[in-house]
Amino acid sequence: MEVIILKNAEKVAATGAKLVGELLRVRPAAVLGLATGSTQLALYQQLVERYRNNKISFRQVSSFNLDEYLGIAADNPQSYRAFMDREFFDQIDIDKQNTHLPYCEEGQNPILVGPAYEQKIIEAGGIDLQLVGIGANGHIGFNEPSSSLGSRTRVKTLTRQTFKDNSRLFSKTEFQPKLAITMGIATIMDARKILLLATGENKAGAVSKMVEGPVSAMCPASVLQMHQHVTVLLDETAASGLKNREYYDWTYLQNESLKKRFRVFHDD
Ligand code: GLP
Repeated sequence: MEVIILKNAEKVAATGAKLVGELLRVRPAAVLGLATGSTQLALYQQLVERYRNNKISFRQVSSFNLDEYLGIAADNPQSYRAFMDREFFDQIDIDKQNTHLPYCEEGQNPILVGPAYEQKIIEAGGIDLQLVGIGANGHIGFNEPSSSLGSRTRVKTLTRQTFKDNSRLFSKTEFQPKLAITMGIATIMDARKILLLATGENKAGAVSKMVEGPVSAMCPASVLQMHQHVTVLLDETAASGLKNREYYDWTYLQNESLKKRFRVFHDD
């Protein structure tokens, strides 16, 4: 796990965008795994800016989002589809036909959505780079604590904490879903690379468990310790609970000088 601690949230988003840009330069038809949430929003804004400055193109890219609420229509502004369209897809040159979310149509059996989504990911050749955020309770996607580390895309019930954390985004009169369809932990682990972004003090506890705690289903993000190519971008506040901080900073300096010398994306 490569842990990179940056000054602030803006630097986290800019560095994330740079890494996505580096991947698209070598693989313009990459398959991206995407995520929602306010942390990713800053990254999408950086990517949109790069697109507007002709530094990056998504024309050949296809994408698979981590999760989608169950029980709200795709055109509901609260759906993750609407979030992705509004904040990212409608502002870049991606072909929207190639953008996917684990959406359950009205009347469709939600149990069937997961396996079909897994199949689509396989047909696309697998995910090259999966963007991930982290919940304050250590969830990734909507894989809440106690999720099987071997899980696949399926229906999940949100914990009360996640429901409460996300209630800030819903008005009192709006329906807030308690269920979602999420990629499983094993689905996320299948991605060739994973890029996790976390900012803000409320993530410090989850980040320290993820990086320095035991691998446990009670902190789903901790499973990333078992993945070969994970980069974690943190701001100072999200990193404030880490004990091994000095080593991460030291390693980052070594990796940067290696990159300069050999001009490679660090683990290619
Ligand atoms: C939601 C999403 C997660 C996301 C998390 C944190 O629960 N399902 O994918 O990582 O929120 O979001 P934020 O970045 O807004 O803190």
